[in-house]
Amino acid sequence: MPTDLEVSRRALLAGGAASAATVAVPTARAQSATPPRTQSLPTTLPVRLTVNGQARTLTLDTRTTLLDALREHLNLTGTKKGCDHGQCGACTVLVAGRRINSCLTLAVMHQDDEITTIEGLGTPDRLHPMQAAFIKHDGYQCGYCTPGQICSAVAVLDEIKAGIPSHVSGNITRRPRVTNDEMRERMSGNICRCGAYSNILDAMTEVAGADA
Ligand code: FES
Ligand code: FES
Repeated sequence: MPTDLEVSRRALLAGGAASAATVAVPTARAQSATPPRTQSLPTTLPVRLTVNGQARTLTLDTRTTLLDALREHLNLTGTKKGCDHGQCGACTVLVAGRRINSCLTLAVMHQDDEITTIEGLGTPDRLHPMQAAFIKHDGYQCGYCTPGQICSAVAVLDEIKAGIPSHVSGNITRRPRVTNDEMRERMSGNICRCGAYSNILDAMTEVAGADA
């Protein structure tokens, strides 16, 4: 004969199982319930860009990064994809003269923006002074990071000229000077696996006309 205690235990377990079942049913129902209706959003959009001085119109998946729009849709493969996560700077381009990581921004966010890639800075016949200085000072080895380095370097000198301080500017009320520290700090988002850093600095110093 079961004791009162054993009966109570069984009753408790049975009750527990029943409770679990009653809890499970609404959960299962909730999972199979029809999701609320949402407004359907367009998956492609027309995007107007001015790239290297030329008006370009593309119809793009709204998730397309600016980097992929340039490389895959406009065939401007000078801009490189390194990490695709904003960590290496290989994808640096200029938007309205300011440098950005093109892998971290969507093309549809740049309606009517002016974009300059390495192809638009200069040509083999008419190199940009920074391109010429990189060649003169051996500012590269494999060259993979170089388009991003050059775009960044051009913008860095413009930033310094415009008086924009950096993390290492001693006195932010004074105009920053073109020093090694300033250039190293500002170029720190552009990684070079070949380690051409000191030659890149020489190239930038020459273009800045500075005695860094
Ligand atoms: S590819 Fe954009 S930061 Fe590396
Ligand atoms: S030159 Fe090779 S990664 Fe910079």
